[in-house]
Amino acid sequence: MTIALSLPNPEKLIWWTDHLRKLLPEHQILPAANITRLEDVIYAVVWQPPAGLLARFANLKATISIGAGIDHIAADPHYPTDIPVVKTIGPDMTQRMCEYIALHVLRLHRQLSDLQAAQRRKDWHQIVTPTAPNRKIGFLGLGHLGRQAAQTVKALGFDVAGWSRSGAAPDGIEGFDAAQLDTFLARNDILVCLLPLTPDTSGILRAKTFEKMPKGASIINAARGAHLIEDDLLAALKSGQIASATLDVFNTEPLPESHPFWTHPDVLITPHIASLIDPISGGEVIAANIRCLDAGDTPIALTHVGQGY
Ligand code: GLV
Repeated sequence: MTIALSLPNPEKLIWWTDHLRKLLPEHQILPAANITRLEDVIYAVVWQPPAGLLARFANLKATISIGAGIDHIAADPHYPTDIPVVKTIGPDMTQRMCEYIALHVLRLHRQLSDLQAAQRRKDWHQIVTPTAPNRKIGFLGLGHLGRQAAQTVKALGFDVAGWSRSGAAPDGIEGFDAAQLDTFLARNDILVCLLPLTPDTSGILRAKTFEKMPKGASIINAARGAHLIEDDLLAALKSGQIASATLDVFNTEPLPESHPFWTHPDVLITPHIASLIDPISGGEVIAANIRCLDAGDTPIALTHVGQGY
């Protein structure tokens, strides 16, 4: 019984192979490209697998995503949709996302970039910002990471709301449902995107959305690059409709050197690290999920590509 591993980064592929071999000594763990007996593969542990790869494993029982998202698997038109996908969600990943969102909400709230610009001018420029309860933060997406991050920001004192299909929100957070998107957008000084990428959410950060936000609002995208129409953002930054963007994810990663975001004064770029999977604790979550599958049980984070997330 074999576990196939597929990751685009060769160094990470070696690391994951070695590490999972230690954690799951009872399994044969091989990079997908080295497997000749395709019929022996029962699990595949993947990040951005090549299209068609997983369909070649006729006895595949489950695919494990090295990450919280499954869009990189659902994007494969040949994926056998009846095979479940297990997401990797662990406390470290959640903690990292909460830290990232808190960091950037506070940075925008306290106008850190204006203070840094003042320092460069040697200008003793005291900026008085509103206090957190007077700053409205909105979360697009209240899934596992969205809820936790919204609660973290709420605990800092901000006025927090969230938009999700059902409108259900944790205590203290105002919930807006699918039909209330415009009302939700109109309230936020800072809009945080933590949505899963599905055909419904792709391109949600676009001109029409920006127009409905208060002029001068900021966005933070720590979900997927395809949520954002990049040209629409550049236009909204130019007009001042959007004051600034904090982006962790991009349509093309790594972001090409020629991309205008790199040097844009109102864009802060981070290289898809908001909630990077920790190789040590992430490996343990994956090993635990595989053991759970081996025992015939259903991991909590099991889903299907048809569900979209
Ligand atoms: C990272 O982006 C993930 O899906 O975990």
